[in-house]
This record gives sequence, structure tokens and C-alpha cells, in this order.
Amino acid sequence: MVDIHTHILPKVDDGSDSLEESLAMLRRSAVSGVDVIVATPHWLPGSFMVSNKQRDVLADELRAMAMQAGISIQIVTGRECYFAPEIFSFDEDFHRFTFANMGKYLLIESPMQQIPPYVEQMVFDIQVRGITPIIAHVERYADVIRDPNIISKFIEKGCLIQINTGSIRGRYGSEVQHTAHILLRHRLAHIVASDMHTSHSAPLGEVFIELSRIVGEAETMKLIDARPRAVVEGRPVPRPEPLEYRPKKSWWKFW
Ligand SMILES: [Fe+2]
Repeated sequence: MVDIHTHILPKVDDGSDSLEESLAMLRRSAVSGVDVIVATPHWLPGSFMVSNKQRDVLADELRAMAMQAGISIQIVTGRECYFAPEIFSFDEDFHRFTFANMGKYLLIESPMQQIPPYVEQMVFDIQVRGITPIIAHVERYADVIRDPNIISKFIEKGCLIQINTGSIRGRYGSEVQHTAHILLRHRLAHIVASDMHTSHSAPLGEVFIELSRIVGEAETMKLIDARPRAVVEGRPVPRPEPLEYRPKKSWWKFW
């Protein structure tokens, strides 16, 4: 399995706070069946601004420590970029925000309260650079909870959609859990990742049974293995045709 969204690098954001914690996160992931893990520290102007160069140094250190500790897992670099226009000022270095510095896929997150109108323009600006945006944990955004169908607009434009393991398990409450299930059942999500911040976060492999109950085993393997593996290897990701979600009408709406 391939986990494309984690905060395993120590002391760079609100994720791991020590090397020991990072190793514990790696160990738990490997035990759950993850063989490739992507370190995606936040890039959030004013809060989390570790440079991509420093991220690469820390990833090298962590690889060496993991090898020493006998943890068999491949560490790839990435970034979780906040939707902020400043990102384009990194023009020359822009490709280093993408998975494995390949310039193919970029993980981005929106403000939780709403998906701002400028996001559509930003998606376009990313795509003209030949990069496919992957929108992180969409099930947590208030706009999507209100109307899960708004995600189809981004899928039609060519974005990939990622959901968190914690959301499937109800870690962020029943509304987020319900939304995650709707998105999965209607093929409005392409990848599941852990977004782990500590060694107490559920690693990707632990969600296999729950996910299989929702979408079946074949689709589960696409969500946690085939599609995320294509992302880290820079290959195209085949995606299913989404189904329209029709919410059940409440009886009082007829009166
Ligand atoms: Fe994250």
C-alpha cells in the first residue's frame, strides 16, 4: 500500500514532534502493510514554511534512521500546499512541491470553512504547468458536507480527490464520516490516505476492512494501492465515472 499524505517529518509542522515519534509512525505504517509513504509537510504561508530543501535533508535523515531501525518502508517527498496564490511566486522551485519532485501531481488543501471562489482559477494555474492537483480530505470541508456533488466539478476539471482514513472511522465526527461514505459510494473519491500527525493516528493499512465493507475489496485496493502508487511513480491514474449523489428528501420539504 502507498500512503500519499502524512506528517512524518519531525518538527516542521503540526505533525511529528521528534525523531522517535517519526520512527514510531513509520513502524506502525509498515506493520499495517504500507511499503511506500510520502512525507507531505504543510506549506501554509505565515505558519508552516519549511523549505523544500530542508524537507529533503530531513527526509534523508529519516531514511537513514529507518534503515538503522530495521523498518522496511520507502520514504518519498511531497508537500501539502494550502490554496494560496503565493505558491506561484516559487516558480523555479515549483516542481519541488510535487510528489517525488516529478512535476506531475501536487497535494493541495482548501480552507475548511469553504472552498473559496479563487480555487478554480488556482486549479487551472496548476494544470497549465502540467501538474494534476490532488485535493486533500475534501470530506472535511463545510461546503462539501452541505453538498457532496460540488466535488464533481473538480473531478470534471481533472483533479484527483483524496479522503482521510480518520474520516472513514468517524474521527472528525458523524457528518464528516457520512460525507466520506457518500463520496466513496458515488466514486467521487480516488485515493484514501492517513494524513497521520502522530503515532496514534490510524495508519493506512488498518482501514482495509472498513473500506472493503463500503466499496468492496477491488475498489479498496485501487484507493489505497493502485492509484496512489501511480501518483508516486508519476504515471497516469485511471479514474472511474462518478455517480450523481441524490440526497433523500425529508418529508417536511414536501409541505
Ligand atoms: Fe495533512
